[in-house]
Amino acid sequence: MIISIANQKGGVAKSTTAINLAAGLALEGRKVLLIDTDPQTNTTRVFIHPDIELDLEKTLYNSLIKLSPLSTIIRHTKFPNLDIVPSHIRLSSADLELAQALDNRSERLKRAIGNLKDKYDYIIIDSPPSLGLITINSFTASDKLLIPVSTGFFAMTGLVQLQETVEMVKQNQLNPNLEIMGVLCTFADNTNVSKDVNNQLRAHFGDLVFNTSIPKNVSLEEAHSRHTHIFEHAPNSAGAQAYKELVKEVLSR
Ligand SMILES: Nc1ncnc2c1ncn2[C@@H]1O[C@H](COP(=O)(O)OP(=O)(O)OP(=O)(O)O)[C@@H](O)[C@H]1O
Ligand SMILES: [Mg+2]
Repeated sequence: MIISIANQKGGVAKSTTAINLAAGLALEGRKVLLIDTDPQTNTTRVFIHPDIELDLEKTLYNSLIKLSPLSTIIRHTKFPNLDIVPSHIRLSSADLELAQALDNRSERLKRAIGNLKDKYDYIIIDSPPSLGLITINSFTASDKLLIPVSTGFFAMTGLVQLQETVEMVKQNQLNPNLEIMGVLCTFADNTNVSKDVNNQLRAHFGDLVFNTSIPKNVSLEEAHSRHTHIFEHAPNSAGAQAYKELVKEVLSR
């Protein structure tokens, strides 16, 4: 199953969710491929230390623009069952380069994944904070969408546009079967704003909202800076507990 983690709003915990969902599924014995499509390379840098230079040829850029197969780009991480396709800062111009491409510019990622789909139980795609062609490629390649929503003020902004983009991808026949798997409340706390957003999301998305909410938890941020996932960095933290619950929900959906 291929799952895109997406929301064009920045800083809502897309990468944190992609990393820890992928790691949690791998710990449950599932074979997982994590694809970083964000030129910011945050997810990539959790698994490949920032001191190590990324060879452009061995990153997603080459797959999307030069059409090289993903199988030549995949790297094992130090964690069992967890492989990664690294991003590259050059991907920041990929939207423009793809826009000029005449053939299959929305289906590049889908084609690059090809029958790798059968080699992995889950392919998790981390998306950039935009609804450009990279994100359209993620949506076209995916079976399901997981939308993290930060439960602060303005949380709902942009969700209608996100849903319209999903409909566009379905109606243009790019991916008629794309479905929203779930909406995940992130940065949850005990404030009224956080509770209000949770209620608004439930009113709008109903059962699509995951029962699990991810609380504000500094261990999640620390794990990134230690170049690992939350289950290794702080297995007893509130963040680890919450992502573990999310893994269970994803396995059951
Ligand atoms: N539950 C949490 N509690 C505390 N900090 C968090 C939590 N989730 C994420 N963070 C931190 O918040 C910041 C934004 O998270 P993250 O990078 O995952 O968001 P994003 O949606 O991927 O951002 P972008 O849109 O830039 O790609 C990071 O510094 C991350 O470590
Ligand atoms: Mg991110």
